[in-house]
Amino acid sequence: MSSGDLSKAWNRHAETYARLGAPFTGYMAQSLFAAVAGRLPKGARILEVACGNGELSRAAVLHCLEEGRSEGVRGSVVATDFSSEMVELARRNLSVLGAGDVVRCEVQDGQALGFEAASFDAVFSAFGIFLFPDRQAGWGEAARVLRSGGLLATAVWRGPEDNALLRLQMEPVMASLPDRVRASIPRPSWLDITTAEGLVKEVSAAGFVEPEVSVFDAVLTAPTPRAMWSMMRESPLSGPLFATCSREEIAAVESTVLSTFEALSGGADRPVRFNASCHFLVARS
Ligand SMILES: C[S@@+](CC[C@H](N)C(=O)[O-])C[C@H]1O[C@@H](n2cnc3c(N)ncnc32)[C@H](O)[C@@H]1O
Repeated sequence: MSSGDLSKAWNRHAETYARLGAPFTGYMAQSLFAAVAGRLPKGARILEVACGNGELSRAAVLHCLEEGRSEGVRGSVVATDFSSEMVELARRNLSVLGAGDVVRCEVQDGQALGFEAASFDAVFSAFGIFLFPDRQAGWGEAARVLRSGGLLATAVWRGPEDNALLRLQMEPVMASLPDRVRASIPRPSWLDITTAEGLVKEVSAAGFVEPEVSVFDAVLTAPTPRAMWSMMRESPLSGPLFATCSREEIAAVESTVLSTFEALSGGADRPVRFNASCHFLVARS
């Protein structure tokens, strides 16, 4: 899929993601910011790549505002995403902070950023660069726009063996997809960086040094089994799995997924909880 088609797919998913996904990934993204905030220089110029509806940037803006009050020096935040709908949601989300010129939101492809070299002290990307078709370009652009010694912080899902969220979502899907479809699914390349070793190897190859990886666990709560299925069905990540399925084939997957989730939740109208696990990586340019 071209970058343009992918950004359109995220545009279509933006509202659902903001409602169901971002309250959870947003908590993890804000925790990623908190894990690094103490190391930021005063008045840091902060970039968020693939910001979604701006949850990490929200934490960054609050940090800058507090810094302005307590230190008299205020940093700045640029929240970017290649989906114009996501950027609009981020703009709305951040506008309530009354942060004025501390923050701006821009449509930017993280694989080809329109910023000068060395324009930022820190680049953050929570569940963003890891899914780019050209991750090397994503890490490379983060390195280019960081000043020497600047900080990269990123969150990347751990693989299904360590991450019940992925396992519980994908097992019923894979078990019920027709053989023809299952056989045609390519191995997602981001599985290469679901381990700490794989992630460190990749960002080191992009020129980052002093990598530190930690595990971060959280519990995702979906309001109902069907709400989680709807998100999976629509998401640009899992939705394409069903592109060549007939209506009957999708109904069969839906039935398997819903009964798996209902067994976890205890009923169709009950919340379903998934233990999720990711890596936080922090490194220097
Ligand atoms: C899983 S969401 C994560 C959003 C947010 N960081 C969070 O933690 O909630 C992935 C985001 O990456 C964005 N994205 C995907 N490819 C991108 C690219 N090449 N450049 C910029 N953003 C991209 C999508 O539009 C989407 O907002």
